[in-house]
Amino acid sequence: MNKIKPLRVGVVGCGGAAFWHLSAMRKIHGIKPVAICDRNEALAKRVAGFLHFKSYYADLSEMLDKEKMDVVDICAPPQTHLALSVQAMEAGCHVLTEKPMALTTQEADEMIKVARANQVLLGVVHNELFMPVVMKARSMVKSGVIGDVVAVSITDSMAKDADLVLNKDHWCHKLPGGIFGEMLPHPLYLVQAFLGELEPVAVHSRKLGGRDWLAADELRVILEGKNGLATITESVNWPEDFMVLDIFGTKMSLHVDIWGAVMTRYAVAGGGGRFRRGGQNLEQGFQRLGGTAATAFNVISGRFRDGHRSVIQQFFESVRTGIGMPVTVEEAREAVRLYQAVTAQI
Ligand SMILES: NC(=O)c1ccc[n+]([C@@H]2O[C@H](COP(=O)([O-])OP(=O)(O)OC[C@H]3O[C@@H](n4cnc5c(N)ncnc54)[C@H](O)[C@@H]3O)[C@@H](O)[C@H]2O)c1
Repeated sequence: MNKIKPLRVGVVGCGGAAFWHLSAMRKIHGIKPVAICDRNEALAKRVAGFLHFKSYYADLSEMLDKEKMDVVDICAPPQTHLALSVQAMEAGCHVLTEKPMALTTQEADEMIKVARANQVLLGVVHNELFMPVVMKARSMVKSGVIGDVVAVSITDSMAKDADLVLNKDHWCHKLPGGIFGEMLPHPLYLVQAFLGELEPVAVHSRKLGGRDWLAADELRVILEGKNGLATITESVNWPEDFMVLDIFGTKMSLHVDIWGAVMTRYAVAGGGGRFRRGGQNLEQGFQRLGGTAATAFNVISGRFRDGHRSVIQQFFESVRTGIGMPVTVEEAREAVRLYQAVTAQI
């Protein structure tokens, strides 16, 4: 393996997302996490002990003063992304931030301006785009095999008894759109990746349960673009977490169970319509078996949640080479524009 000077990283926020980031970074050659900070100092201390770091910090200013870092990785809540990333970039560090990049386009523009002024890279973690099964769907769409994409549908559920749903003091309930402000970035950047520029034309939310702290617990969004229509269904009333993506093309459609890591092809041109349904069922059965075997392999080999690993790896390669950002700031800003437009209506 080539000897390269490792890029030194400081992680801000030591919660759930940081766990994925730090686990991914451990598997990537040429990255060295050197410091962590969390405004919950006791948590920072525990995580530092676990990772055998000599020091830990309660705030970013102190970490920037005392540590030499190439990259600051922001895994703190969305409400902090603007202030933390600006502070890190003004100190000369490249920044990788969790989704959503920011809460408003004004915030996103400020971040982009500071990145350019300080000649540093600003990356955003749109990890679902880099899940192996989604990468496969993206490459099929790019190859033209499914024809023109005319519609995309995403169903995204957070389990009704998930911590975020039950904990009324969780920061997610203070986001624009409440808990959907935490969930929406993923479906928004996904539909954008398959259909290009979109505008929300209908947003409908409802509260079916009696949980006062939720702004809503059901959400339906329709977006329209030059190339087709997207629909997003989100719920926090169902028993399990899942995310399912359907891509409807003029030659074939794809059904992608993102968490299950299984993709099936259906509605194939020349398939013979309903008279061939038996044959199609058999073919889909084989596809599912193949997909299930692939999922088992991914789970056993630890590649199951590799969206984070791929996007983080590509970002660090861009820091090294200056080219090939996995998510451009323009794409991330566009996702923020949709996020702001949709959450304003919840
Ligand atoms: N891409 C994904 O799949 C994914 C999954 C989970 C969360 N996220 C994103 O990651 C970010 C963090 O989410 P989480 O679930 O890890 O939250 P969390 O609440 O589990 O952890 C956030 C941590 O940040 C700390 N913090 C808050 N403000 C801070 C500040 N100013 N300076 C230092 N530390 C601060 C908190 O004390 C907390 O420990 C959010 O943007 C969220 O949307 C992304």
